[in-house]
Amino acid sequence: MKISGKTALITGGASGLGEATVRHFHQLGARVAIFDLNADRGQQIVSELGDDRAAFYAVDITSGPAVEAAVAKVIERFGSLHICCNYAGIAPVVKTIGRDGPGDLELFSKVIQVNLIGSFNVARTAAFAMAKNETLTEDGERGVIIHTASVAAYEGQIGQAAYSASKGGIVSLTLTMARDLARNGIRVNAIAPGLIHTPMFDAFPQEVYDSLAKQPLFPVRLGQPAEVAHLAQHLVENTYMNGECVRMDAGIRMQAR
Ligand SMILES: NC(=O)c1ccc[n+]([C@@H]2O[C@H](COP(=O)([O-])OP(=O)(O)OC[C@H]3O[C@@H](n4cnc5c(N)ncnc54)[C@H](O)[C@@H]3O)[C@@H](O)[C@H]2O)c1
Repeated sequence: MKISGKTALITGGASGLGEATVRHFHQLGARVAIFDLNADRGQQIVSELGDDRAAFYAVDITSGPAVEAAVAKVIERFGSLHICCNYAGIAPVVKTIGRDGPGDLELFSKVIQVNLIGSFNVARTAAFAMAKNETLTEDGERGVIIHTASVAAYEGQIGQAAYSASKGGIVSLTLTMARDLARNGIRVNAIAPGLIHTPMFDAFPQEVYDSLAKQPLFPVRLGQPAEVAHLAQHLVENTYMNGECVRMDAGIRMQAR
């Protein structure tokens, strides 16, 4: 599917990988709708993009009614929806046991709620809207959904119990959702990034940053958000990509810590 002239909903679009994809797809000629909790940053990006092809919606992706209302607003504003990229996510440390007792169940639930259930919530609402589109290509495509997993889905490190479980859920969800939506002409893929330099890395002490940056096989550096946006572009444009979770990690295999 060509990106130019299409409408893309991008969750987590106010930061990191989501922001890079917002800017990239906008530059390729798409209309972009940012769903994020960070209204200041979201509005700032929209004003920087500086035209009527960008809009921000303050949405908590875990809320069914909020997401349904915001998708309705996107359709009202841009006419239809063709692409949904799910980047919004959180990654707090949750261990199986703590010093004073069993691991934090509430925090574990929250991570699953945001990363897994939130992604399903946005995707189900977007897919329902996409299913109403006229077919867009000879193959009968109506829409494309891209989830964000992580290499932690396969090699979760110590402290990533909740995060890796949520991302493993995303990997499992991808093929099943592609099967559900095949009859509607909607493709579903996922990206599993390795270590990508987003704002959270700026907070790390230099020695931690340097040690992480040495871990990829080749090239030996952190990935850039624009490289993830480039893969998202490919997953939208290449009609034969479906039901797949693509690792984008310079060959890294995470160790236990
Ligand atoms: N950066 C990496 O190295 C890396 C590696 C693997 C996977 N990922 C995944 O990629 C995605 C993006 O990561 P990032 O580094 O850009 O993160 P980030 O923290 O820079 O951006 C995440 C955005 O999601 C938003 N968000 C969080 N909870 C939300 C909610 N309930 N509703 C709406 N918006 C919400 C935040 O406000 C933020 O703007 C995440 O799912 C993350 O798990 C990142």
